[in-house]
Amino acid sequence: MVVEAHAKVNLTLEVFGVRGDGYHGLRSVVLPVSLSDRIELEDAPVLTSDCPYPDDLCLKAARALCPTRGATIHVEKHIPAGAGLGGGSADAAAVLIGLNELWKLGKSREQLSETGAQVGSDVPALVLGGPVLMQGRGERVERLPMRSDGEVFWLVLAKPAVACSTAEIYRLCQPRPHDDPALAQQVCQAIQSGDRRGVAARLTNDLQGPAVRLHPEIADALVSLRAAGAEGGVMSGSGSTVFGFVPSEQRGSEVAAAMVAKGYWAKCVHTIVG
Ligand code: C5P
Repeated sequence: MVVEAHAKVNLTLEVFGVRGDGYHGLRSVVLPVSLSDRIELEDAPVLTSDCPYPDDLCLKAARALCPTRGATIHVEKHIPAGAGLGGGSADAAAVLIGLNELWKLGKSREQLSETGAQVGSDVPALVLGGPVLMQGRGERVERLPMRSDGEVFWLVLAKPAVACSTAEIYRLCQPRPHDDPALAQQVCQAIQSGDRRGVAARLTNDLQGPAVRLHPEIADALVSLRAAGAEGGVMSGSGSTVFGFVPSEQRGSEVAAAMVAKGYWAKCVHTIVG
């Protein structure tokens, strides 16, 4: 069985203080995009994974779903690591969805999403898929209702040659003193009405300041991305990828090519609303 594991961008990411469990409380509007890893799953007596990273969330996800079952997990990576694009979490979400089917466990997306919270903060949102409002430490997720002809947005992702440590960036973040849902609500409405400029104007990430202080290359990437013609421009998750909106695939390919010419890893992608 093959499952596509879609990367995500955070349109907003607001951080509201440290909770009793050491995690930060947050509110984030998360959108999956067309860039994906390809996960191949096969029933097997023993659980194995060829995921190339030391912190293999695929194995963690499979064990959280059913500790006594085996499977062979093959991961074809396309999403860069340390990029804020949720690569490892997307793989884990795809493993939960795929093994639920392969092992005939009959769990709902909501149940899989709860299991995903044991694996990583971004996993519940990526299990639900589509645009999601994520709260708590990431475990409270709500799928945003979309029109059936769901608007597709084109984006350009650009990553400087630095990898960010999520834990370090959170540690350096100065949380907001007040929890105000207004920004996320405005962004959710703009997504639902297909208002690209409305979304681009409200892109926000509280982790961007600390990430830029550690890696000034991220600020350079944002300047280059806007100069190449992207609308908005913000870092995704804990970085180091930045992204901005473009009006069409054609324009996105030009902006991505301009970023590649400057030495960045860059891709034109569209949002997944389904
Ligand atoms: O949940 P995940 O393993 O992806 O989180 C990685 C690290 O990011 C955590 O160990 C924690 O330091 C930080 N984090 C946080 N608050 C969140 C999510 C992540 O402090 N809501």
